[in-house]
Amino acid sequence: MATAEGNKLWGGRFVGNTDPVMEKFNASIAYDQRMWDADIKGSKAYVKALQKAGLVTQSEMEQIVTGLDKVFDEWSKGEFKIKPGDEDIHTANERRLKEFIGDPAGKLHTGRSRNDQVATDMRLWLRDAVTTLKELALQLISTMVERAAAEIEILCPGYTHMQRAQPIRWSHWILSYATALSRDVERLEDIKKRVNVLPLGSGAIAGNPFNIDRELLRQELKFDSISINSMDATGQRDFVAEFLFWGSMCLTHLSKMAEDLILYSTKEFSFITLTDAYSTGSSLMPQKKNADSLELIRSKAGRVFGRCAGFLMTLKGLPSSYNKDLQEDKEAMFDTYDTVQAVLQVATGVISTLKVNQPVMEGALSPDMLATDLAYHLVRKGMPFREAHGCAGKAVYIAESKNIHLSQLTVEDLQTVSPLFDKDVSWDYTKSVEQYSAPGGTARSSVTAQIEHFRTWLQAQKQKP
Ligand code: ARG
Repeated sequence: MATAEGNKLWGGRFVGNTDPVMEKFNASIAYDQRMWDADIKGSKAYVKALQKAGLVTQSEMEQIVTGLDKVFDEWSKGEFKIKPGDEDIHTANERRLKEFIGDPAGKLHTGRSRNDQVATDMRLWLRDAVTTLKELALQLISTMVERAAAEIEILCPGYTHMQRAQPIRWSHWILSYATALSRDVERLEDIKKRVNVLPLGSGAIAGNPFNIDRELLRQELKFDSISINSMDATGQRDFVAEFLFWGSMCLTHLSKMAEDLILYSTKEFSFITLTDAYSTGSSLMPQKKNADSLELIRSKAGRVFGRCAGFLMTLKGLPSSYNKDLQEDKEAMFDTYDTVQAVLQVATGVISTLKVNQPVMEGALSPDMLATDLAYHLVRKGMPFREAHGCAGKAVYIAESKNIHLSQLTVEDLQTVSPLFDKDVSWDYTKSVEQYSAPGGTARSSVTAQIEHFRTWLQAQKQKP
């Protein structure tokens, strides 16, 4: 017992030393120190429950709480010194507590295991992280909605299969991403319910033998509910996996948006211009202004999904309860958080500062994009849609063979295809867009309704606790 291992939390049964390579391999302190605050919060609540259960005296509890406050102080001032042997944040905090208050520190871990402790710390940390991400996502959505409102009159080509499809409002495009992001916010809220469950009091696997008051722990740590099975509570990381999927989905949306904008910012499109603040240059080609902000946004979806896929592989096939494999949860969770919070902020910056080249966007509209309207003209005159589609297609063919725009066909030309064509045939893009006035469409009234919907929704989201 007089070995180095004797000093470890778990050193009692060891006679040999840990190989230094193994020591480093096993340690998580390099990254789990981010949870120092959550770890101290959890311990302060736990010592109260120990006192209530008669396992520490009032005075011991006070000493432990005062000691933990000192540890807190060191971390918050950046003065905490990690020592060799500080395997993880739990070990480090307890070691320092002992240095401050001596023997009573040894009672803090009564009935507790790092298995329920780490699950508690993770949930406390993620709960705050999720709140921050929600705020950042709401900022982005709000930026999009206000931009859509300000630029509601601007029209642009809408694409399907990356081919020119139908004229739309630019604001309709913006709001399509706001809609996706609003689902991400709601998904995050839903995840929070399952994150905010108290595992503390589950011990290593079997529960807590000292009749600890878990309701007191729940209240102290402001969890919504208490885990119902100690084996599940210590052995599951569903809440981390859900968060990693959430990040993957959210960044998939932003990656798609970035791809659209990268394309729209090319010289060939010139629909938008990024501000210098979100672009970079080339070290070789002096003329270049690259959309690096958007390219990085696009790339991060891959990174976060990699975290998600990797962690699911770690979980797959694990036996019951806690296994050290679960230590892999932290880097995946932290990295996903760091990545998504950066992406949301950069995306907000890009969306709020990009310049729209309205004449170019609207100049890119072309009469062929009104071929569907030509078919609808006939439908409005009573022709079945399938037949009307064929007639409009013929009109497109005639224009192409004459090498003229669809709109340059005369009424007489059109009447060779169908006598139902008349002088009411419209080649006006605004008129075209205005047909789509059913909810969800690109007409002014419909886009205004979307904007109103999002303003009300944002208001309600901000008022939620
Ligand atoms: N550092 C560990 C982790 O992050 C803490 C839990 C360790 N538990 C154990 N039985 N060794 O998962």
